[in-house]
Amino acid sequence: MLEIIEKHIRTIEQTTLPTAGAAEAFRIQYLGKKGIVQALFTDFKTVPGDEKRAVGQALNTLKTAVEAALANVVMKSPGRKKGPTEDFSRPGYATPPGAHHPISLVRNEIVSIFERMGFSVAQGPEMEDDWHNFSALNFPSEHPARDMQDTFFLAKDPDWALRTHTSSVQVRTMETQKPPIRIIAPGRVFRNEAISSRSHCVFHQVEGLYIDKNVSFADLKQTLLAFAQAFFGEKTEIRLRPSYFPFTEPSAEMDIWWGLENEADHRMTKGTGWLEIMGCGMVDPAVLTSCGIDPMIYSGYAFGMGIERIAMQRFQIPDIRAFYENDLRFLKTFSGAL
Ligand code: PHE
Repeated sequence: MLEIIEKHIRTIEQTTLPTAGAAEAFRIQYLGKKGIVQALFTDFKTVPGDEKRAVGQALNTLKTAVEAALANVVMKSPGRKKGPTEDFSRPGYATPPGAHHPISLVRNEIVSIFERMGFSVAQGPEMEDDWHNFSALNFPSEHPARDMQDTFFLAKDPDWALRTHTSSVQVRTMETQKPPIRIIAPGRVFRNEAISSRSHCVFHQVEGLYIDKNVSFADLKQTLLAFAQAFFGEKTEIRLRPSYFPFTEPSAEMDIWWGLENEADHRMTKGTGWLEIMGCGMVDPAVLTSCGIDPMIYSGYAFGMGIERIAMQRFQIPDIRAFYENDLRFLKTFSGAL
């Protein structure tokens, strides 16, 4: 047995392990559960008493030789033939946990509330043609309603623009899907507005659309009430005020009762106690026709809200520009929020 062990030691001394794969195969061959060293230790039990000492020593030498050969490989890892070696026992560098952006937090929450009601997420491009952003939505060309949303047109081709609302996703969805349609479209939108603490030229919206037979304004109201109570709290009250959008008829603006308890409430609600949250209405039959859906058979509602406004209320952020400055001190305050 002594001879066998010594032969192994000599082999090991002549072995070179050029690759990590070779080293691993070598390790398994010698140190694996069914490896040579283990087998020899098993045989060791049968060695007569007077030889035990010498064989035992030889076995330990063999094990050390295997380990030394392996350690050598680590030190000779590519590019590190000389000089300091890595210290694999050192603790790793801690990676600081990231944080979701407040806009993502609010968007995810809004989307998940509507997903629970059976809406699914739809997306569309940020650069849109006139048809999807305006014409199909009942904004005739030269109609003053187009002034409601100051648009960034592409200099080379004014038929194209950065979308001014995610309502363009409504059009794309209706053009390609058959009712019943129940979608929610979160996304980034662009308006050529002066940047201030209240408005920015880039912001985010979530828009919803439901088209089916017999969809009524009562369905819209109930859906929005359920959303408001899920998002702002069970006791939230809403009110709908008549409004105007070219693509909905009738149109409304939804407010939630915010309260008038302190000065901040007065400021936020302009002294009314009501806070405007979103625009909504029944999809105009002309829009359904433009998108190939028969308004004699189907009806539907749509609604849209700005994520920044809601995030500003939720997190008490006084200036919309904070969302885009990427100031880590600001972003880190959301690392605990989900
Ligand atoms: N797209 C409208 C806006 O950007 C919001 C809206 C969506 C209104 C759907 C009614 C229905 O102001």
